[in-house]
Amino acid sequence: MKLALLLYPHQNIRYRASLLQIALEETRLVFDTLETPTDIHPEEIGGAQFLICQPDRPLSRRELGLLGHLSSVYMIFEARDEALLPLPAQRPDYIGADLPYLLKYKGKTNEMFTDSMLTMALAASTFSRNYDAQLNVLDPLAGKGTTLLLALRRGYHGIGIEISKSSIEELAGYMNRYFEFHRMKYKYQKSSLTVYGKNGGTQHKWVFSDSADHFKDGDTRSLRMICGDTRNTEAFLKTESVHLLITDLPYGVQMGTAGKQDGILGTVSAALPGWYSVLKTGGALCMSFNTHTIRREQLTGRLAECGFSIVETGSLAHWVEQAIERDLIIARKG
Ligand SMILES: C[S@@+](CC[C@H](N)C(=O)[O-])C[C@H]1O[C@@H](n2cnc3c(N)ncnc32)[C@H](O)[C@@H]1O
Repeated sequence: MKLALLLYPHQNIRYRASLLQIALEETRLVFDTLETPTDIHPEEIGGAQFLICQPDRPLSRRELGLLGHLSSVYMIFEARDEALLPLPAQRPDYIGADLPYLLKYKGKTNEMFTDSMLTMALAASTFSRNYDAQLNVLDPLAGKGTTLLLALRRGYHGIGIEISKSSIEELAGYMNRYFEFHRMKYKYQKSSLTVYGKNGGTQHKWVFSDSADHFKDGDTRSLRMICGDTRNTEAFLKTESVHLLITDLPYGVQMGTAGKQDGILGTVSAALPGWYSVLKTGGALCMSFNTHTIRREQLTGRLAECGFSIVETGSLAHWVEQAIERDLIIARKG
């Protein structure tokens, strides 16, 4: 079977080569889980960028469904002789595909990149065969929730921890408006959290469903947004309750230069044991960071000390803007 995966085009030429590399690694990781050896290589057809894969056996419908989670891929074709035959799209949209995209703000992590991180963590975990189950996705430095909204779109549950009250309130306003506008059934609750016997933050929680009937039957999904310090993750969440942990570390160029024990590395080092403990065995983490602020070896060293196994990939480092060169690390628990 020969597959041709058409990639989304990108306007920014400088970003295009990096996106191709990320798409290649994302696709390789997903094919690794299918246990069918295949060579994956880029090819231009009719001026558009494709990835060509030739698994040594036909893929099942479920396996093609997993390929539908490849965020860099726009369409999947079966290549037969000179023809490209489109395979039915299997997009994992539980609720509106627009949910992660409408809220715009400075400092938002690119949605497609974040979605790739989600797919890479899924592929690196032992839960990839259960890609359509109700997985719990944690972003412990959640900002205004890009990771979590992408998780909800897939029908997963989202849990975020964020220290900035104003970011969470902006997200809360957006979520309530979104549900109201689409006339979706939902419940929203705001409550105080106790951490180590003291007031330790606020939790905003939404429970919703893709249809009124499912909502009535209790077939629901949830978004929990905790306003608090990520170093208290263990106090906020149950041990081994999270399948995938996706996060984009603060870029914080002003906080230190590469190699120094700066604020971000200090926070991550203090938070990692808690992140490890709430992650299920077999779960995976995908973390992006600015290489001008933290060195890769510093993070992989801390991850290994906590018990994570680093998943080897080709280079994923890429230019984002003048002061930001982004890289990412994938690691597994167990
Ligand atoms: C790069 S931003 C994440 C952006 C997010 N991916 C988005 O698209 O909205 C990193 C976030 O970490 C948060 N943060 C920094 N230190 C924190 C801490 N100790 N506890 C919780 N959140 C923290 C910052 O407020 C910031 O929103």
